[in-house]
Amino acid sequence: MHWYTVTPTVSEIPLEIPREVPLDILLDRATILRRVAALGVQISEELTGQELCVMPVMDGGMVFAADLVREIHLPLIIKPIKASSYGEATTSSGTLSLPWGIPEGIAGKDLLLVDDILDTGLTLQILRERLIENGVRSVRSCILLRKHSCVQLSTDYVGFEIPDKFVVGYGLDYAGFYRNLPYIGVLNQESGSSA
Ligand code: IMP
Ligand code: MG
Repeated sequence: MHWYTVTPTVSEIPLEIPREVPLDILLDRATILRRVAALGVQISEELTGQELCVMPVMDGGMVFAADLVREIHLPLIIKPIKASSYGEATTSSGTLSLPWGIPEGIAGKDLLLVDDILDTGLTLQILRERLIENGVRSVRSCILLRKHSCVQLSTDYVGFEIPDKFVVGYGLDYAGFYRNLPYIGVLNQESGSSA
């Protein structure tokens, strides 16, 4: 068990976040990086000859995408898209907003969407539809984590299947915090300190 201490002034912290939260490590840094490297090899081999447009789904997908693109040995450009479905809750709100809109210049491109996690699958499903409407040639997806509860939505590349728990770290947040953890942990809210 590791402890993540939130250090900003108390007024900046959403009320429901305890100052210190216990985290059970689910995937350590070395395990994550080994898998990311393997995904990079697989993508590079399977998509040889293509010029990719890698689309990190912000904000959660940015840490994973930053490591993944350095393991993909193909010509590529990077065009982030911002999608938001959670607000500050730990369950999906059921609607998706795209605060930055659809990136310019994607018509005719072969996209690789890179996101942190598949929970309900709503984000990926809606993004895919919107991108196809905007004239891309193909959409593939590479998702680091897939929760067991997720309906069988087809994803081309998945890093790890994980239990149905709320996880943070390596890009995944709770109310904006924890994205900088180099590992993935389970937020153990029940035993969290309320200090
Ligand atoms: P979906 O649309 O329900 O598949 O949710 C996808 C988005 O919800 C992800 O891109 C994450 O930003 C967020 N999300 C889902 N589960 C978790 C979690 O366990 N921890 C942190 N964020 C999550
Ligand atoms: Mg996200």
